[in-house]
Amino acid sequence: MKTKVAIIGGGPSGLLLSQLLHTRGIDSVVLERKTKEYVLGRIRAGVLEQGFVKLMEEAGCADRMHAEGFPHDGTLISYGDEMFRVDFAALTGTPVMVYGQTEVTRDLYEAREKAGGKIEFNVDQVKIHDADTAAPYLTYTVDGDARRLDCDFVAGCDGFHGVSRQAIPLDVRREYEKIYPFGWLGILSETPPVNHELIYATSERGFALCSMRNENLSRYYIQCSLSDHPEDWTDDAFWAELKRRIPKEQADKLVTGPSIEKSIAPLRSFVTEPMRWGRLFLCGDAAHIVPPTGAKGLNTAASDVHYLYNGLRDFYENGSEEGINSYSEKALKRVWKAERFSWWFSSMMHRYPDQSEFDLKMQTADLEFLRTNKAAQQAMAENYVGLPY
Ligand code: FAD
Ligand code: DHB
Repeated sequence: MKTKVAIIGGGPSGLLLSQLLHTRGIDSVVLERKTKEYVLGRIRAGVLEQGFVKLMEEAGCADRMHAEGFPHDGTLISYGDEMFRVDFAALTGTPVMVYGQTEVTRDLYEAREKAGGKIEFNVDQVKIHDADTAAPYLTYTVDGDARRLDCDFVAGCDGFHGVSRQAIPLDVRREYEKIYPFGWLGILSETPPVNHELIYATSERGFALCSMRNENLSRYYIQCSLSDHPEDWTDDAFWAELKRRIPKEQADKLVTGPSIEKSIAPLRSFVTEPMRWGRLFLCGDAAHIVPPTGAKGLNTAASDVHYLYNGLRDFYENGSEEGINSYSEKALKRVWKAERFSWWFSSMMHRYPDQSEFDLKMQTADLEFLRTNKAAQQAMAENYVGLPY
């Protein structure tokens, strides 16, 4: 089989890239290790930047998002019983869109299928060959059947545990990592959200986040120990702990119910450089991970897709290599800013096991400054709604 762009990974990055290329008549094939049902069953991000919304519009996949998604003009931040609002719309002129990653992925799959896009599921043993030449190709198996895909370019959109990053030789690749000493326990419940906007909360007992998917579907997270397992946490224990970490006024009106999903995610900051080697380009979690505080993971994947799509478009439409040659540099500049924001927001909002009294005072001062200083709120808001591409 032959295609222009071979895309490894059928998560949001791979699908969005494939669909955007399709709008320009650039042919691609997506190889996904799992089934479509499995990919759609993963509950992950929930907040989209305006840049992401625009990309979905450009991809022709934004109708359901505009009909069913919720634009949010601000967010609440609480510490102890103190609570304040950061008004994104007033500070930046831009809201964010609350619309789940599952829904984004579903819309993208639907669009690819409608357009007759080629997606292979259940692929195994994907190997990248000759990425440093003008004629790269992939080999892989489906149900034990060996296959080959020739292409002009390879897009590595296969997430943190994929094969693409590893294909960049070690003497070229440099990795930067920070592991956080806690995780997030998240639940999804068919209950009305406690508030019409998100609440990022910190307390003596650690971080909590009140988020949502729609009027009757709430997503809540609490900071937990890395040694915890979701089964250790009964729903009752989760709700009780969440209530202890949010202001009393909110806790009193929290509607609880059975969880329909419960999982723990570790927190990590990670960047690999460069994001391009020859004709292999890394996109999204394949190249970088942020701790989830601030919802930058999926959004940063989308900005990579923006740069790569435009680079490939320029190559095929104008014969210019400028866009693909500058891909890694442009993408990384924005990636590092998202890393900084996520690291800062995480550092301010979590309890660390080895935290000194001084560290605690610094966190409170940071929060007080953000609560009372317009310039600090402006900086926070600009980062939260998404820095320009
Ligand atoms: P992925 O979504 O990881 O997609 C990669 C795809 O590649 C997968 O479908 C995978 O099956 C496939 N694949 C992997 N290896 C291979 C292979 N060898 N061959 C073929 N296919 C392969 N972000 C937020 O903003 N907010 C959140 O609350 C949030 N929660 C998260 C919770 C968890 C548990 C995780 C892991 C991430 C979370 N994120 C969150 C991050 C966000 O979901 C990711 O940034 C986003 O999914 C990145 O999209 P992606 O397409 O780059 O990678
Ligand atoms: C969600 C996750 C986040 O990490 C975040 O900062 C905001 C919302 C969510 O899953 O809804």
